[in-house]
Amino acid sequence: MSSRHIVVYGATGHTGRLVSAELRARGLDVILAGRDGVALKALANELGGGEPGVRVHQAALDDPAALRALAEQASVLIHCAGPFTHTGGPVARAAVEGGCHYVDHALEQHHTKWLFDTMQEPARQAGVTMVTAMSFYGGMGDLLAGAVAAGLTGIERVTTAYAVTGWRLTTGAKATAELLFADTQRITYEDGAQHVGYVEPRNAVFPFPPPLGPRTMIAPIPSSEVVTVPRHVSARRVEAQLTAHTFEEEQAFTSEHVDAATRAGSDFTVAAQVITKDGGSAGQVSGHDLWRLSALASVEAAVRLAGGQGPEDPGVYGPAEAFPAAPFLRDLERLGLFTLTLPGRAES
Ligand SMILES: NC(=O)c1ccc[n+]([C@@H]2O[C@H](COP(=O)([O-])OP(=O)(O)OC[C@H]3O[C@@H](n4cnc5c(N)ncnc54)[C@H](OP(=O)(O)O)[C@@H]3O)[C@@H](O)[C@H]2O)c1
Repeated sequence: MSSRHIVVYGATGHTGRLVSAELRARGLDVILAGRDGVALKALANELGGGEPGVRVHQAALDDPAALRALAEQASVLIHCAGPFTHTGGPVARAAVEGGCHYVDHALEQHHTKWLFDTMQEPARQAGVTMVTAMSFYGGMGDLLAGAVAAGLTGIERVTTAYAVTGWRLTTGAKATAELLFADTQRITYEDGAQHVGYVEPRNAVFPFPPPLGPRTMIAPIPSSEVVTVPRHVSARRVEAQLTAHTFEEEQAFTSEHVDAATRAGSDFTVAAQVITKDGGSAGQVSGHDLWRLSALASVEAAVRLAGGQGPEDPGVYGPAEAFPAAPFLRDLERLGLFTLTLPGRAES
């Protein structure tokens, strides 16, 4: 697979553009893919038109033959088109049928659960590795939970907490948020088991360390950690939370057309708190521009998979299941994406 290109599906979106530009900056061959051939060609021109390392492939979601032909040219496909509730199935199936590894940006719980429930066996049989939720929301919480919980036993609860300001939602992110707000069949993880049903959101207070300090949170948010974290951390309860003020900010939902520089102005802290019978432990990342972090996390995963540095066995994985969590986070920190704080135990 390693001689083939890295495919970016949804390359014309904000995330897809950042991913494509990063792959080119690293000198990697890319195929820019999606449903809009004209927009894809324009992007190819921006990224070095005419170079053999940049190709375009138009493939709509309702054209399985075109999607499969796309996947057959790929070592890894990075899926950046969303909402994944709509785009997830066709692209994931094509990756398995075309025999390429797969990385996605989904935070949707049901998409991630569907991958584990439905695509695990086909992926194993095809020799393909699929890493879901390799992005900011869902991905950073999962990696931090893995790094903080390493070596701990008797874990009562894992809480992942996102403090975000300046988040300017794109068209895709807004559509995803609207679908998640409307979802009355949310997945939760309580008493050591998954539950699906209506969840009344509440306000909680999460104790971020200074300078943030305790913040009022929306709890839970319907993020993928409830599906991915229990696969590698044995805990009775897993919950993801988001600062209440994030969606109260002016422009969060009216920013679909802001420029890339404005969109890059977000600040974030993501923390994971692991409570055991005997005490607790926590770790966090703090930085700027959650979109760039999302893009580079997926690129780091794709580059590892293309280079044969993924999990030993094929199948479906969450981020911290696919890659050792603390070293992966350290590599993202070296790229200047955030400052990482982990308990000393997690570094060993
Ligand atoms: N977990 C995270 O932290 C995280 C981070 C970043 C992104 N994401 C997710 O990634 C997705 C994209 O985000 P974005 O910010 O890049 O959004 P965006 O700028 O609005 O771009 C959306 C992309 O998806 C494509 N697309 C949408 N519906 C499609 C369909 N039915 N068929 C084919 N292509 C389709 C669009 O193609 P057209 O240009 O042809 O419309 C565009 O390329 C969203 O679901 C978002 O939630 C998640």
